[in-house]
Amino acid sequence: MYNLFFRLVFRRMDPERAHHLAFRWIRLVVRIPVLRTFVAAALAPRYEELRTEAFGLRMHGPFGLAAGFDKNAVAIDGMSMLGFDHVEIGTVTGEPQPGNPAQRLFRLVQDRALINRMGFNNEGSLAVAARLASRTPVFKPVVGVNIGKTKVVPEEEAVGDYVKSTERLAPYADYLVVNVSSPNTPGLRNLQATEALRPLLSAVREAADRVVTARRVPLLVKIAPDLADEDVDAVADLAVELGLDGIIATNTTIAREGLGLRSEPSLVEETGGLSGAPLKARSLEVLRRLYARVGDRVTLVGVGGVEDAEDAWQRILAGATLVQGYSAFVYEGPFWGRAIHKGLAARLRTSPYATLADAVGADVRKTA
Ligand SMILES: Cc1cc2nc3c(=O)[nH]c(=O)nc-3n(C[C@H](O)[C@H](O)[C@H](O)COP(=O)(O)O)c2cc1C
Repeated sequence: MYNLFFRLVFRRMDPERAHHLAFRWIRLVVRIPVLRTFVAAALAPRYEELRTEAFGLRMHGPFGLAAGFDKNAVAIDGMSMLGFDHVEIGTVTGEPQPGNPAQRLFRLVQDRALINRMGFNNEGSLAVAARLASRTPVFKPVVGVNIGKTKVVPEEEAVGDYVKSTERLAPYADYLVVNVSSPNTPGLRNLQATEALRPLLSAVREAADRVVTARRVPLLVKIAPDLADEDVDAVADLAVELGLDGIIATNTTIAREGLGLRSEPSLVEETGGLSGAPLKARSLEVLRRLYARVGDRVTLVGVGGVEDAEDAWQRILAGATLVQGYSAFVYEGPFWGRAIHKGLAARLRTSPYATLADAVGADVRKTA
């Protein structure tokens, strides 16, 4: 039914307009108690066997919403209602910024992919912190806060910008993500080099500990799929060295491999990060590589091209404790989160593993 709706309504609309329209509907449903209770009851993960613990946080299931969908933390309850057990908001930057000019989001429907060059459009750390502070949650998903660099801040001053966001946002973050992997902020991905990443992560850790003393806010880093294998290894080693809680693999890619010749060539040539099905193979490869390197010492989050429960299961077997998605949500619609959790529970039941935690990394351990 969603497929038909997508074809008749969303596909004819500008992708960003469709996004805002969907957002408005989700927020409307959340405002009507009887409706939201009904939807949440139908879609929330309720499989005892999928209970998950990641970086000390307990969750009902491993599947969550990747960053970029709810940049300003306006729909946390709505996304939770749709069955995402954790919601990563952001990327939030130190200062507000409009992002790149439109059109900046493109659907490659035949390839089940998206290209975006949004450029971290967001209301900034102060406004988002105020929203999180005044939030009266209806649902209680785990809320991750993903932070990035303000575009006009020079690369040499990036640490200060991330620290500012950390000071404002860490108090409201169940976990914090340092995003150094978006292709749409010039120079951002240079921060993935260990010489730049070490001081950045150390400063963010220190700032988070300074402003939040009652608990230790888990700190993660999100990396690009375009890193060379040796650079993936270097980030893995650094994560172990710094006692980082997690690595999110991966962000969108600047590569155009994996795109069938199905999408319009003019679309394929659009500048920006490619996500969805064509990203699947590389994201999985990076995840496997990370797990082979860090094992259980750093929690891994698998994202990139996850379309169905089988993809999510493959990420878990490759080492992911948590799995996230974004692009396929656009194509699959509101029942997607539920379908993934349901399918995962079925796979776990017929697998040789007693718990989900036993399955994490099992494929990599087998081949080691
Ligand atoms: C339109 C769009 C905007 C995004 N914005 C962000 C962002 O602000 N911060 C971030 O860390 N990732 C962002 N991402 C990347 C996603 O979080 C995810 O890593 C990537 O899309 C791969 O997952 P997918 O194939 O399931 O979409 C964005 C992705 C899309 C499609």
